Amino acid sequence: MKLLAGNSNLPLARAIADYLETPLTQASVRRFADEEVFVEINENVRGEDVFVIQSTSYPTNDNLMELLICTDALRRASAKRITAVVPYFGYARQDRKPGPRTPISAKLVANLITVAGANRVLSMDLHAGQIQGFFDIPTDNLWAAPVMAADIQARYRGRNLMVVSPDVGGVVRARSLAKRLDNAPLAIVDKRRERAGESEVMNIIGDVEGHCCILIDDIVDSGGTLCNAAAALKQQGAEEVFAYCSHGVLSGGAAARVGASELSELVVSDTIWSGEADAKGGKIRRLTIAPLIGEAIKRIADESSVSSLFD
Ligand code: R5P
Repeated sequence: MKLLAGNSNLPLARAIADYLETPLTQASVRRFADEEVFVEINENVRGEDVFVIQSTSYPTNDNLMELLICTDALRRASAKRITAVVPYFGYARQDRKPGPRTPISAKLVANLITVAGANRVLSMDLHAGQIQGFFDIPTDNLWAAPVMAADIQARYRGRNLMVVSPDVGGVVRARSLAKRLDNAPLAIVDKRRERAGESEVMNIIGDVEGHCCILIDDIVDSGGTLCNAAAALKQQGAEEVFAYCSHGVLSGGAAARVGASELSELVVSDTIWSGEADAKGGKIRRLTIAPLIGEAIKRIADESSVSSLFD
């Protein structure tokens, strides 16, 4: 097995390599003066089972090109099998046509990865389950929920826990976390704009009074969704509010927004390495999913079950 890392998230790639006790493949993934990506693999990969680790996070297009060009280089170097390990799959929110004459960019990205030469894909908490079906090659979609549940149990066991979905679309995810927390009760934030031009109304479905609320979402971008949900929960009498997110996109001053919010803490996994999460004295903590991804890679290489990781 060989592990090749792009530049998007080297700390995660190194942590996965440590878990697998396998060094990262010697390679140079760099830019020409005009910003074209150039890749040179400095080890023989002929006949190897290669895993390319690259999140397509900010700068999304550059990181996507690195992934495609690394894959092309491996294919031309006769790697036996190439798995694109994309812990955060950028463009995932463009998974349908929101209106006429708009693209389905997540499908386009899936096509690009396949055409570049990937034989399989390994990702985590895809924004929508159907993205798995955008690929015609085997695609494993891991969940960060077991890692989050273990962290929540270790820190907040004994508190009056309640899992909260910040929107109606996230209920399945929230229910699955609640199940892992000894069937904790569930609440849902229902955002509605009653009339165009009027501000959004947050209705809470469920009685959150006196509960230690755990908001769960797949992506935190500007932080608006979670910060607004936390404010609404506090208003309804929640004792304390924490948030857990698989992908900390954290753009446009999210760390400051979270810092000033009613959230006691925001926990993001390390699928994305965002500088915002490192703000000193901030409320954002990183939780590593490197062992989970490492174990999935090991099982793919050994051809053993990946789904049993979640039993
Ligand atoms: C939306 O469907 C996603 O699950 C997230 O709720 C959303 O991307 C979060 O965005 P923001 O942090 O900018 O509110």
